[in-house]
Amino acid sequence: MSTDIRTVVVLGAGTMGSQIAAVAALAGYTTALVDIRQEQLDHARAQLRSRLDRDVEKGRRTRADVDAAWEQLTLTTDRDAVAASADLVIEAAVEDLKIKRSIFAELDRVCPPHTLLVTNSSNIVSSRVADATDRPEKVCNLHFFNPALVMACVEVVPHETTAPETVDAATAFVESLGKTPVRLKREVPGFVANRLLNALRREAVGLYEDGVADFKDIDLAAKTALGHPMGPFELMDLVGIDVVYLIRLAEYEQTGDPSALPARSVKEKYEAGDFGRKTGRGWYEYPGA
Ligand code: 3HC
Repeated sequence: MSTDIRTVVVLGAGTMGSQIAAVAALAGYTTALVDIRQEQLDHARAQLRSRLDRDVEKGRRTRADVDAAWEQLTLTTDRDAVAASADLVIEAAVEDLKIKRSIFAELDRVCPPHTLLVTNSSNIVSSRVADATDRPEKVCNLHFFNPALVMACVEVVPHETTAPETVDAATAFVESLGKTPVRLKREVPGFVANRLLNALRREAVGLYEDGVADFKDIDLAAKTALGHPMGPFELMDLVGIDVVYLIRLAEYEQTGDPSALPARSVKEKYEAGDFGRKTGRGWYEYPGA
């Protein structure tokens, strides 16, 4: 466990937030997962239960560790009650700047002065939410990857006035989760890993839209020629086409660069509500999802 952080609050019980909370609870932190909707919490609980039970079945974790994690984890809609005793809040809500700014302003009011406020956003850099608080030096990005229970990397991204102690505490926290911190020197939308991924995705979607190859064959090439565990289209379905779409829009809004706008085929899927695994259909079909 990190020395300065004992109690962790994760806001947003979507795919990322729920697994981030599980990772923290598994590492021994007293953890609360918060969502404004009870049904989202119920869904997160069921998803985590089946994931963690499967890990036990497969011998990846012990039953005792998983039971101990459930003891540490609270799922609640009462954000302010848990925020009042948090050492670290990880915001993993929707990729919408206005909503994030109001969340950070409210957190600043209800959290104790020492609480670190971080955002899991990959695209909204923390300087854009830090100035909604009176503690910008305690704000940074802590960017996890999907599926957070599995992926090792967590990017630690300070903004100009993030205190070095905040970066150190965030880095130590990531290490205490058994994950690999990747520290950036300064903020840039998309950070490092997503910029690499975006370049690949942009090219993949371009090849598909230009009729060069079917999306399945582009995935096949990424896996069999480049050794990627998933192709770019499979990965969009895992991450969520809604997330991909909103990230691109946020980048456009920050840079004004029209090439950042979501591709036509991605926009069509977003507008049709075909978000990938979570809705049962994206680029591929997921019966029973
Ligand atoms: N949640 C939790 N655990 C999962 C999971 C999920 N959605 N999907 C797979 N796993 C775990 C499970 O433990 C699974 O075991 P199980 O089959 O017994 O349940 C184990 O991984 C192996 O899964 P699979 O046999 O289905 O497949 P793989 O061996 O290919 O592993 C993978 C799955 C780890 C997801 C692997 O394919 C991979 O590494 N894919 C690339 C993921 C990636 O690039 N993530 C980054 C996305 S970008 C991002 O998150 C940034 C954000 O800002 C958008």
